[in-house]
Amino acid sequence: MKLFPESFLWGGAIAANQVEGAWREGGKGLSTSDVLPEGIFGGLDERGSEKEYLKDVAIDFYHRYPQDIALFAEMGFTCLRLSIAWSRIFPRGDEETPNEAGLAYYDAIFAELEKYNIQPVVTLSHYEMPWALVKEYGGWGDRQVITFFLRYARTVFQRYRHQVRLWLTFNEINMSLHAPLTGVGIPMESSLGEIYQAIHHQLVASSLTVKTCHEMIPGAKIGNMLLGGLQYPLSSKPADVMAAMQGNRHWLFFGDVQVRGEYPGYMQRYFRDNNIELHITDEDREALRHGVDFVSFSYYMSGCASAEPEKYLQERGNILNMIPNPHLSASEWGWQIDPQGLRVLLNLLWDRYQKPLFIVENGLGARDQLTADGQVNDDYRISYLNDHLQQVREALEDGVDIMGYTSWGPIDLVSASKGELSKRYGFIYVDRHDDGTGTLQRYRKKSFGWYQSVIASRGAVLK
Ligand code: BG6
Repeated sequence: MKLFPESFLWGGAIAANQVEGAWREGGKGLSTSDVLPEGIFGGLDERGSEKEYLKDVAIDFYHRYPQDIALFAEMGFTCLRLSIAWSRIFPRGDEETPNEAGLAYYDAIFAELEKYNIQPVVTLSHYEMPWALVKEYGGWGDRQVITFFLRYARTVFQRYRHQVRLWLTFNEINMSLHAPLTGVGIPMESSLGEIYQAIHHQLVASSLTVKTCHEMIPGAKIGNMLLGGLQYPLSSKPADVMAAMQGNRHWLFFGDVQVRGEYPGYMQRYFRDNNIELHITDEDREALRHGVDFVSFSYYMSGCASAEPEKYLQERGNILNMIPNPHLSASEWGWQIDPQGLRVLLNLLWDRYQKPLFIVENGLGARDQLTADGQVNDDYRISYLNDHLQQVREALEDGVDIMGYTSWGPIDLVSASKGELSKRYGFIYVDRHDDGTGTLQRYRKKSFGWYQSVIASRGAVLK
């Protein structure tokens, strides 16, 4: 059995708004995540009242990070994917000068990681932007936001250039098509044209951020981040095959622009067919040319596409709606489990881009039981991760260049879609519940020791 390469990065992935809490501490401004306290698909609360939500404290990583990072180190992590909350650095988003307390907070985090030789992989924007940019500018619908984002990116590149060598621009950039308020700060009911215009501005910002990163931090690598929404044809009917190709292009389009630096031909047709006219300047076209160094993505599930989608019940999985695959089982949240799909996806992305790939999210959300003696026997999680990692190994054997793997939520955290804590992903159990009760104490689950042995053995213990 082949071992994973020595240089392969092993770790976990978290996002600021799902772990930190402390939403009003350290001079932080209000973000889109704070006003969607019950998740991406929950209601808006601009926080005029004193009502408290789970995310306000989350798992209190803001104060407990030394303990949590020590646990990650104990598992043998060589990297940790985390995000910087833009609204900690620029509370409104349009200031000239950053908030020093916000910058100092991440200094401390990176110093802690350095102690254990854990390499940070930093997402600049993971499902949150300063709320003032939404209220006063109309989010990414306004191209001034490109300037504000670049100011933020330059600020953190300058500050952390010695600590952070791996960066990601926008988390799951393709999700804006499904949740535009979280993705690009425009109303959920925006038209397709408005959504793509805002996305265009974000793509320009992403490309200019790649350029800026290369200029400011020689040797650093910066990638994009896609929600890997793999779709199979529901049947072998050619029309279904075409539907799956088109379904996949909805998300691959983002990668195509971010890797190749221009809009693909099939999108021109899509815009024509849907009467979408984007305002794209010559300067924008030039700005888009800076391709990423690597492609990162999340993968939880796959789904099916049909030429007659109205005939089938579509289910919302990880943000996308897809037709369930009759050959697969699903998690407690209805997300279909498809380890082999990960190999398919890795090969597909490698064939398409020939860029190193990084699996920066993969995991199983499940209800865990903490026993009276502080154990969590999460064999189902071990089995999910084992089967997916086996497929990563297969893809390596296929010749795919894979930089690393960070499982989603190495510690239980608040879910992005619904703002709940009962959906747990971690190797570490956090004693906190949907009703806000709990001690916040951390416990090692059975999967903790398992992941530790996977990393230590470079995959030899996988079954
Ligand atoms: C991805 C996001 O969509 O899926 C994460 O990047 C999110 O932020 C993860 O937490 C799992 O989704 P959920 O809704 O179960 O938290």
